[in-house]
Formats: sequence, C-alpha cells, structure tokens
Amino acid sequence: MKQNIILIGFMGAGKTTVGAALAEKLQYRLVDTDAVIEEKEGRTIQSIFSEEGEEYFRNLETKALEELLQKGAEQTVLATGGGLPLRQCNGILLQKMGLVVFLKAEKETVLKRLEKDEKRPLLQGAGPEERVAELLEFRDPIYEYTAHIVIPTDGKAVDEITEEIIRNYKIMTGDRKGIVVQA
Ligand code: S3P
Repeated sequence: MKQNIILIGFMGAGKTTVGAALAEKLQYRLVDTDAVIEEKEGRTIQSIFSEEGEEYFRNLETKALEELLQKGAEQTVLATGGGLPLRQCNGILLQKMGLVVFLKAEKETVLKRLEKDEKRPLLQGAGPEERVAELLEFRDPIYEYTAHIVIPTDGKAVDEITEEIIRNYKIMTGDRKGIVVQA
C-alpha cells in the first residue's frame, strides 16, 4: 500500500482538523483539496459555487485529484471535500492513493459543528436539518463503500481519532512497531 492517508466524510466530520493532527504526528505533508482549489482559482468555494455552479466545482475536484496523483503523492495526508468521493472515478483514484479513512459523523454532530457555518454553499438556506439528513442518507453508503476503514467520530477527541487511524495504518502498511494488541 502507498504511504498516504486519505480522509473522506461529510462536512463537519473533522477531516481538516484530524488531517492536520495526523500530518503533524506522522511528519507527513498535508493536502486539502478545498484549499488547493481555492488557491488555484483565486476565489473561495462559495464564490465558485455561486459564480460557476456545482458541476464546475466538481470538475475542479477531479482535476485537483488527478494532478496530485500525477505528481506522485507519498507520505501525504489528503483531506478531501465532502462531495469528492461521490464521483466513482474519484473514489477509485483515492483507493489507489493509499489508506482511505471514512470519518463518520451522525446528523446531530454535524449540525452542532456547523451551526454557525456560512462557508458551505450546500447547507445555506432554510431547513439545514432536513438537508443534512437527506445528504447523509445518500452519501454515507458511498463513503462506506469507498473507504478501507470507518472511524466513528461522535464524542471523540481529535487525539483519540488520530491514534485510531495511525494504529490501523501501521497494521495495513505492515509496520507493527509500538502496536499494543488489546485482549
Ligand atoms: C462539500 C464539502 C465542502 C466543500 C464544498 C462541497 C460537499 O468541503 O468541498 O462546500 O459537497 O460536501 P468540507 O467537507 O471540507 O466541508
């Protein structure tokens, strides 16, 4: 398996925060697809959505992923936008890149974490609760199908989540040093 960890999951699942903590612990490079796109486009995700529409943004996501793989990512933690794995071609690219980790969050957790958020175009407007429920129902099976491992994040500290990921990563890459087997 390639030496990369890819974080997927819903908005507010903690991909960016956990990604930064993981990269620091492993001394890996951190790449965030949303940040890559914003930098390349010179505008925010909200502007891209409002000026060009969602389909345009989704094409940018696929392009960013392809470019990253072309450059040959190694020792990288990739934090993906919540909708990136929905395109099957993207999911296949992620699986080839390394260990795909689904950070799973329940609706209540997502709503609490994104209560005052104004940056996610898909959650603006009326009825965020129904919107989140609807999107989660559609997306969770896709995240599960795409990921090698699923880590429930509700009620867990960032440190706890990163340790869980590193433990699994070491096992999957054959590095068993320092792993304590629990009875
Ligand atoms: C999206 C998630 C966002 C961002 C965009 C669309 C989605 O990223 O890519 O607003 O479709 O779930 P985060 O998951 O980092 O919030």
